[in-house]
Amino acid sequence: MENILDHDTVTLNEASDTLRIIDQTKLPNITEFLELSDLKDIWEAIYMLRVRGAPAIGVAAAIGLYVHAVRIEADTLKAFIDKLSQAAVYLNSSRPTAVNLSWALKRMENKALDFLKENKDSKDDEASLIKKLLKILHDEALLIMKEDTDVCRRIGEFGLTLIKKGDGILTHCNAGQLATSKYGTATAPMYLGHEKGYDLRIYCDETRPLLQGARLTSFELSQAGLDVTLLCDNMVSAIMKTGKINAVFVGCDRVAANGDVANKIGTSVVALSAKHYNVPFYVAAPTSTIDLDTLSGDDIVIEERKDSEVTELWYKERMAPENIKVFNPAFDVTDHSMITAIVTEKGIVYPPFSDNLQKIMK
Ligand code: MRU
Repeated sequence: MENILDHDTVTLNEASDTLRIIDQTKLPNITEFLELSDLKDIWEAIYMLRVRGAPAIGVAAAIGLYVHAVRIEADTLKAFIDKLSQAAVYLNSSRPTAVNLSWALKRMENKALDFLKENKDSKDDEASLIKKLLKILHDEALLIMKEDTDVCRRIGEFGLTLIKKGDGILTHCNAGQLATSKYGTATAPMYLGHEKGYDLRIYCDETRPLLQGARLTSFELSQAGLDVTLLCDNMVSAIMKTGKINAVFVGCDRVAANGDVANKIGTSVVALSAKHYNVPFYVAAPTSTIDLDTLSGDDIVIEERKDSEVTELWYKERMAPENIKVFNPAFDVTDHSMITAIVTEKGIVYPPFSDNLQKIMK
């Protein structure tokens, strides 16, 4: 049987200089790939969650900016970089909460600006300078993708030290391979534990309204052969009360300097339950998701999405009265006081987060 994990979530098709993604809105029933080069289509793919999950959004934006750059027409290096910067601003507007988006775009833009500075007195003609810069942008985009795989593997190794054989682990949304280049963040300890015969029991919240837990996490983990049980979001307290959950592992879209964490809507409810039942609550976070410029969760912009995701999507017919008011934030903030530890690729960060996040980011 075809395994979704055999495919890259997001990659560069070198032959056509296009961004290649799995269209995640079609999973788990249809595996369809999209080849994108038009900037508007790349923006739409991120906005519509065809590619989603903080690290994968960052990788898609970097590769997306490169494939756009290949198609920029400009007479001078300076004009080329101006157009590149405009495209970066546009892509950055697709989703506001995941910091990896702006982080990856800034990395790409900085490469271009550094190149401009280094070559201000160059005798090379403008076309060959642009060609050289394109190669730099190509390599940077692929480096961001490769680093993501290494980072997730290391998060998995640190995360596994927090898990015992036979543990029951609950996760929310999809912080899996489908949200990254490989392994996922919250799922990386699960994949590594599975390789080592840990016999883990994984519990996935379905994650209303876009069902990332049901459609993506339960799909990818079960395809990898893990023992997975799917829950509706409102069953979290009930399962914790049974004592079957030994730890919660979730991903995140932005970690503020004080350790507050923005992640998929519903995460803070899981954290409250975990606190009540004394279950450790771990957040898996690449350091690219840690944003020390954002002081606390109050400063994180929370994306709000269309009413129809709540009232209509996935149903055969509308399941709410016409014109009912809807509140549909895509993320919530879990207060740092409810987080046991934040697992990064550089190590496990324990409270006090204000001090220890600064140390790990040095
Ligand atoms: O709206 P989504 O599907 O992009 O939200 C994804 C999440 O909330 C993930 O938990 C987070 O991005 C971490 S992915 C490793």
